[in-house]
Amino acid sequence: DNMKFSLGKSEGIKVKFVCSNEGESCGCIGDAFKNKLFKGTVGETFVGKNKHDDLVLYVGVGEEPTIEDYKFASYSAIKYLISKEFENANICIHESNLDYREMVLAAVEGAIHGNYIFDKFKTTKKDIEINEIGLILKQELDNIETDIDELVNKMDGVITARNLVNEPSMYLYPETLAKIAKETLEPLGVKVTVYDKAQIEEFGMTAFLSVGRGSAKEPKLIVMEYNDVSDNPIALVGKGLTYDSGGYSLKPSDGMKTMQSDMGGSASVIGAMQAIASNKLNANVVGIVAACENMVSGDSYKPGDLIYSMSGKTIEIDNADAEGRVTLADAVYFATDKYSPAKIVDLATLTGACVVALGEVYTGAITNDPLFLSNFLDSAKNEDECVWELPNDEKYKELNKSTVADIKNSGGRLGGAITAGQFVGEFLKNDIPWIHLDIAGTAFLGKSQKYLPAGGTGVMVKTLYNYVKNNG
Ligand code: BES
Ligand code: MN
Ligand code: ZN
Repeated sequence: DNMKFSLGKSEGIKVKFVCSNEGESCGCIGDAFKNKLFKGTVGETFVGKNKHDDLVLYVGVGEEPTIEDYKFASYSAIKYLISKEFENANICIHESNLDYREMVLAAVEGAIHGNYIFDKFKTTKKDIEINEIGLILKQELDNIETDIDELVNKMDGVITARNLVNEPSMYLYPETLAKIAKETLEPLGVKVTVYDKAQIEEFGMTAFLSVGRGSAKEPKLIVMEYNDVSDNPIALVGKGLTYDSGGYSLKPSDGMKTMQSDMGGSASVIGAMQAIASNKLNANVVGIVAACENMVSGDSYKPGDLIYSMSGKTIEIDNADAEGRVTLADAVYFATDKYSPAKIVDLATLTGACVVALGEVYTGAITNDPLFLSNFLDSAKNEDECVWELPNDEKYKELNKSTVADIKNSGGRLGGAITAGQFVGEFLKNDIPWIHLDIAGTAFLGKSQKYLPAGGTGVMVKTLYNYVKNNG
């Protein structure tokens, strides 16, 4: 299933990167340029022959290629080869003014993206994936195999997250999500504890339980511990709505259809734990997921309900579809109460308002600690993931005020991504460095974006990995 990489030439066709300005002077592909069959734009493919009369897949990287361009070109080459039913290939990496190691790693990452297809439910015409890639390098690089292994492990975390997000909710519900977390992480040395409904009740997580009450599927609290979590770990908290129908504030059918992806935050946390543990990072990390389904039944929570939470604060349910923040209220309180984390990041497919504001391109962020966010944004940049800060201004907090409870679960339409994030922030037990990431637009794409697939993306797995590696 997994693509294997080796150094040096192995079986299969050669893939070569071509800059658009190399053009006509280039011996083998010059004619194609002259005849306007190939321009060398980023990701453009052309099959020709080299001077030894071997077939070569040329792939454009544009005029002044960036690392991202190499990722996309490599992705695009693999997609082309898959469409032609190739099972292996060699990627030649030429030298440029970019860092050569980074170029090699970009080619590898792009190839892994290119090989990703979610077709387990297709019984016919399943795409054949590429099994093996030989990397033909022009420079000797110390420990490049180690770097490739690390990257492959990190990308395995991304792929786990994508698969979880794409899996229909009829198969992926709290119990099965917990089971996959266990099966994926325990072999890597992560301690995974799954608490059932009775135990969640004992913790006093009434807010979390209220959201899950309408579902036939039992809620589960999934706790993943990596290394010494008694020593002020980093806490990663993921929204784990395995389905969000909207409850009694029912969603229209179009909005409901992809709501199996409402556990995208938990998928990214599980994927990040996998990446961190498989690379044996020297850090202490705890992952927490309050997994449940938001459904309609005779026992569902309802707009107008006034509910308790683990923190002791009461919540007015203004809208049953603003359920994510209600589960996160208890999840972040649990995290801060039980683990005294040094820092906490929560990830959630939280608001349509965030998608309206930033589209499917940027993840929205809110923080109480500018330095923490600034370091986190550096990691996002290292990994080419897009994160944009939204103002965590007191002035918005007015909107979450309730006349009958301590806080209301919806601040209305205006500034919806901000008030949702601020709601979650109200449930941190102590005033610790916190980042809230609204991945509603970026966890699941309606349309593919460069090397990111339509559907589940595994967004933020790479960034979380990079952050924990550099700051854990
Ligand atoms: N899971 C949704 C947010 C969402 C919308 C994720 C679109 C991905 C794509 C969330 O639970 C929700 O329904 N939020 C409401 C909040 C509102 C009722 C205050 C929303 O954004 O409409
Ligand atoms: Mn909802
Ligand atoms: Zn939701």
